[in-house]
Amino acid sequence: MNNEELKIDSEKLPRHVAIIMDGNGRWASVRGLLRSAGHSAGVKTLKKILTTAVNLKLEALTVYAFSTENWKRPHAEVDFLMHLFSEYIEREKAEMHSNNVQLKFIGRLEEFSAGIQKQMYDAVELMKNNTGVKFNIAANYGGQDEIVRATQNLAKKISAGELQPENITAEIFETELDTKSQPPVDLLIRTGGDYRISNFLLWQSAYAELWFTDTTFPEFTQEEFISALVDFGKRDRKFGAIK
Ligand code: IPE
Ligand code: IPE
Ligand code: MG
Repeated sequence: MNNEELKIDSEKLPRHVAIIMDGNGRWASVRGLLRSAGHSAGVKTLKKILTTAVNLKLEALTVYAFSTENWKRPHAEVDFLMHLFSEYIEREKAEMHSNNVQLKFIGRLEEFSAGIQKQMYDAVELMKNNTGVKFNIAANYGGQDEIVRATQNLAKKISAGELQPENITAEIFETELDTKSQPPVDLLIRTGGDYRISNFLLWQSAYAELWFTDTTFPEFTQEEFISALVDFGKRDRKFGAIK
């Protein structure tokens, strides 16, 4: 389906959509399933959402897959999520590549196993010359951690005499973020019924429009995703100014 068939005005589409894919565990619990089944079901939803983003020619899509706080979960769940990552990358990378997707992982990647890091690196390398949707998977990602890492890099440049403190601007700061050279988040979606940001894209969402739904991520459909995009087109964005 293209934008015309979907009756979407391309002009009013967000450039960058971010999704907090939440509610996998609850989706599974109410069905008497293990939480891991919820995560597997969530991966199926993610595939559909990425397809929609490709069809609509969104510029950037960032999804929250694992936060810097998610290590607090039981070992077995963390292990399962790691296994799911590696399976997802291997299974989906060829199709992503054929869809011209530019894959990127954002977060503190060095804490993943060497094997997963290699898979991430290889998949990103495969797609590095693609020109379609920028697809960022936030893995071991925390907004505060990203800001701290950016600050450390700037501090190193200052101590090396490459940068003066007074020359740090918001634009310079952004060049140290994982999402450098990508547009800010226009639309931030959270599934699963909670109304919080949970340390996601704190800097990039400064002026994001927020969209919350009670639907859990495994139940989130392309139709509901599109309705969020259509709703975004009706928002009155002011960025602090007066219309
Ligand atoms: C989101 O679903 C996926 C990850 C955090 C990895 P949850 O696992 O948080 O699901 P709920 O919130 O417990 O239902
Ligand atoms: C946010 O969901 C992280 C991801 C979706 C990966 P959480 O389930 O970890 O967030 P909290 O704990 O409810 O804030
Ligand atoms: Mg959750």
